[in-house]
This record gives sequence, C-alpha cells and structure tokens, in this order.
Amino acid sequence: MCGIVGNINKSLVKNNLIEGLKKLEYRGYDSVGIALVNNNKAIDILKSEGKIDDFLSKYKDNKSDGQIGIGHTRWATHGIPSDNNAHPIFDYYKTLAVVHNGIIENYLEIKTYLQSKGYEFVTDTDTECIANLISSYIKDGYSITKAIDFTIEKITGHAAVLILSEDHPSTIYGFKKGFAGSLLIGKSDEQIAIASDFQTLISNSKEYMVLEDGERVVATKDGILISNGKSNVRKKWLPINEDEEIVSKNNYQFFMEKEIHEQSDVFLKNFQGRVDFNKKTVNFANEFNNLDLATIKRIHLIGMGSSYYACMLASYWLEKISKIPVQCSNSSEFRYRNPVIENNTLIVPVSQSGETADTLSASNLARELKVDQICITNTTNSELERITKNSIMMRASSEIGVASTKTFMATIEIFFIIALYLSQINHVNEDLSDIFDELKIIPSYIDNILKNSDKIIKLSNKYSSNNNFLFLGRGQNYPIAMEGALKLKELSYVHAEGYPAGEMKHGPISLIDSNMPVINIVTDGPYLNKMISNIREIQSRKGKIIVLTNCPEKLDSSWYDDIITFDKTDDILSPFLSTVCVQLFAMYLAISRNLDIDRPRNLAKSVTVE
Ligand code: AGP
Ligand code: GLU
Repeated sequence: MCGIVGNINKSLVKNNLIEGLKKLEYRGYDSVGIALVNNNKAIDILKSEGKIDDFLSKYKDNKSDGQIGIGHTRWATHGIPSDNNAHPIFDYYKTLAVVHNGIIENYLEIKTYLQSKGYEFVTDTDTECIANLISSYIKDGYSITKAIDFTIEKITGHAAVLILSEDHPSTIYGFKKGFAGSLLIGKSDEQIAIASDFQTLISNSKEYMVLEDGERVVATKDGILISNGKSNVRKKWLPINEDEEIVSKNNYQFFMEKEIHEQSDVFLKNFQGRVDFNKKTVNFANEFNNLDLATIKRIHLIGMGSSYYACMLASYWLEKISKIPVQCSNSSEFRYRNPVIENNTLIVPVSQSGETADTLSASNLARELKVDQICITNTTNSELERITKNSIMMRASSEIGVASTKTFMATIEIFFIIALYLSQINHVNEDLSDIFDELKIIPSYIDNILKNSDKIIKLSNKYSSNNNFLFLGRGQNYPIAMEGALKLKELSYVHAEGYPAGEMKHGPISLIDSNMPVINIVTDGPYLNKMISNIREIQSRKGKIIVLTNCPEKLDSSWYDDIITFDKTDDILSPFLSTVCVQLFAMYLAISRNLDIDRPRNLAKSVTVE
C-alpha cells in the first residue's frame, strides 16, 4: 500500500526523497521516513508518525543529508502507526535499512526462527523480518546479493523492498515478490531514481524500467543490474516523454474536487476513436486485440470497492444491451471460492491503479485457468495489464484523491461502450440510435450538475451532523446507491449503507426514524413507481427523504424533504448523472466536517495488500 522512493545522485538527495514522498503520499500516510548514507558512510534514519508535514516539522533543524537514500510513506498492516514502526527499519546490527510495501505472510515463523538465533525485534512490523533475515544470511557468510536472494525465497506473501547497506554505501538494493505494487527504476544524467509510481519518476528521469515479480536490483551511480535469482536479466530502458502529465490542483482546493470537475473531459476522451456518433457504431477492435468476441458466451467481471460497483452496474448494462449473461464478483471472494469458469468466458478485471492485490491475485488465478481476459485500468504498464495481456485504458489521467471519482466514471463509460460494441458484434436486433444520441450529450449534462452544485453544497451542510445515511436505488441505480454510500463513508466517516430499494422492507426499514436521512435515486423509467412506493414507506416511518431525480414533475413536493435534480435521459444512462450527485454530496459533507478530502483516514489509493 505504501509509497517507496530511492535516489542515487550527484547532489544531495534528501529533498528529492521528500518531494517523491509527497507525490506518493496518496498511497499511505500513517508515517514517513527516509534513510540516508551520510558523509561518514553511516546510515541516518529520520522517521515520524503522521503525514509529511509532521515529518518536516519534526526534522526542521536536522542537517543530515547524503548522495544516496531511500524513503517510505506507510499504510500500516502490522503494528500501529508510530515513530517506532515507521520505515525505514534497521536490522538488529543497524547496518541495513529497509523500506517495504506489502505483507510477509510467514513473518511469525521467520521471527521465531530469528529470535532463536538471538535476533531481537524492536518494532511490531513484519518488515523487520526482512531486515533481520538478510542480516542473518550475511552473518552466515553470504554476500548481500545472495542474502537477498535467499530472503526472496524464504518469505511468502507480497513485498516490494529497497535496502541500504552500510557496508555498500554507494548501492541501493531492491526486490519484488508477488503483487505488492510497482517498483519503477528511472535514470537521467544526474541520478538513478526509484519509485512506486510513474508520476514520481517523471520529474527526475528520462528513461525507466520496471522490476518484475521475483527480480532483484542492484543500483549504483554506474548502472543497474537486475537478476531473477538464477541469472541476470537484460531489460530495455523505456523512454519517458517530455510531455507526460505533471499533476497539480490547478485552482481547486482539493484534487478530488478537480477530478470530479474533469469528468466531462474524461468522458469525451473515452469516446475518441471508440464511438462514431454519425454512424452510430462502436469500434473497439484494436483494444480487444486478438480476443474473439463473437465466441464469448459469458462475462465475469471482477474488482474491489468502487471498481466492483462499476462491475455491478456493468452487469445490468451488458445483459440488457448485449444480451450476454454476466456475473460479477468481488475479487477477493472470486479467488478463494474455487470458481467454476465455463468455456468461452471472458474475465474483465477492473482496477484504476492496476495494483490492487486482491484483483491481481484473482486475475492471476484466471490466467492459471487459461481464461481469456481483458482488464480496464488507468495505469499504463501496470501489473494487472501484464497479467491480462489485453487492456482497455480509462484515459482519466492521474487520479490523486484517494476516493475514486473520474476513474469510476471512466470505467462505467467504457463498460457502456463495450455493451454497445458487443450488441453490434452479436447483431442484437435492437435500435440503439437514440441511445447514441443521448450518450453524446452526457458530458454537458455532467457539467450542468457541476454548475449547479450550490444546491448540493446547501444540502450537505444541512445534513453534516447526521451520523447515519441510507442510499437506495433500483436497477442500474442500485450500484450507484452502493457507490454513494461508499463515498460518504470514505470521506466523511459517517455510517452509510447502500441497498437495492426493494430490500428496504426486508430489514433495513427498522432503522428508519426521524434521524435517518435516506437518499433515494428516483429516475424516470421502469422503476419510478416502485421508488415512489419506497419513499412513501420511508416517510410513513418519519425518515428524512432526500431525492436525487431527473423527474421532479412526477413527484409531489410533500413526499420529500429535499430534492436535487439532474437532466433527464433514457433511464439506462441515468447512472452517469446520479453518480456525480452522490460524489458531490459526499465531498461537500466531508468539507463541512472539515476533514481531509484527498487523504481520508485509514485509506490508501493503491491497496497492494490482500
Ligand atoms: C474508492 O473510492 C476506493 N478508494 C476503493 O474502494 C477502490 O475503488 C478500491 O480499493 C479498488 O481500487 P482499484 O480500482 O485501484 O483496484
Ligand atoms: N507491512 C508493512 C508494515 O506494516 C508495510 C506496510 C506498507 O505497505 O506500507 O509496516
């Protein structure tokens, strides 16, 4: 989950490491730390609980620096967030400093073994096992590279690791095992830079390469040596284009706010080359590459969190528009339930980060079962793309806010276009020309909601002290109810549940009283009357009714307490707009509670542990 950086430079590296960690803070912000080889060729570790600002104020007078160093921003898995558990972590002899992303599953076994050899542990982390295991092999007489290779073999679980050694003060060592997020190595004339994501390399590297599962790197100012434990691996340096995106907030207060406002642009970008609105056709042939879609009989969608809800929504669209049976699974459940996959099934893993450990493991299982796959991701060259071989890019550019917004929008749009494409390929005999016409206008309808966000701001202020919310929707707006509840939970730390509205009377209704606001997505379509019945039932129990609707004219104003409207479309397209409403509601409610919008507590952008 964490962010890792490394730097070998002609000049001092402390600032570079800190700048890198600022860019990676979205991946975890429980603690921050760096290790530097100082002028005396000894390792200095500076680390503190909390965010980078806490680290900077703790060390504002500290003068340590050097030309080589590593850094870490943590999302704690083993041991509470604290100064002591912050990375980098020393080995017992304090000659190795280690930063680690991931989880060592057999850490207890290793710890017990090392303790029996006299190693004392001073942190609660699993990471300390890596430091001490390498150290113990070195004490047994092995070279540091052999010690690392043995460690890679011995540990189970997932790890992306960088190591500094006092005995080799000009070198950064590193390795990757399993799915623990990326380790990218960049270079320019001045430096070798290592980072967990591409954005962090852009500002300081001209070329880069990717460390793969099972590989070990030895980096010095003279070059990079990669091995897979048996032999050296020759890799090409890949170019970093000058015009790669550098991300900023522009004039927005928060990245999330900016990202919500970018959604209409993202929507337009995802049309390009894929949808021909004149001919009313879709062309996805390039992206589906060598997959023979005409033979696909069943589709299985997998993802976590918002990506999973995007899959849920897609299952409605794909079945309705392309008439192919669709199943969707939470990736972590898919993996462990011994799924039965019929022939001619296409698996579509969804992950904006392309790094989510649960989704990578599920997709890896599908690869082992030799099932055709195509992923939807926002990260080029991601681990997920390497597993599935085929990918559809979200074209959402970098999303920094930890809560997904524009990547969710891009995902559902892509799924909608896939549904149209499959209907075309399978000659489903339904006239979709009106749908094409309306789809084209969605970006301007998204902007209409944003232009009128004042009403949503007022509404969020009004309900900002409520601690429980229900979100209800039917059909394709049921997944948006789930997504709305997730957004609110993530950002505002209030209890929120999403339900299919029909489920209401089977239990959740007992929660309703005058303190329970219920957000109802009510759209003009086949579910309208059923949603109206739900509202009436809730009102009879004195619940507070908020409606998000595209048909205010069909609702009596006495039926609700508050109303937010959006443009009317064919009902099948309404989730694109209800999504924006729930995103704004969650964000503004969190703003009125004065919370950290871009980095909500306990979360991280890339969940690289299972
Ligand atoms: C969404 O706001 C969350 N940050 C989270 O649920 C996220 O969607 C989930 O962790 C999956 O991430 P992915 O798309 O990168 O795989
Ligand atoms: N498992 C390690 C810890 O808890 C690393 C967590 C991370 O990936 O940040 O410290």
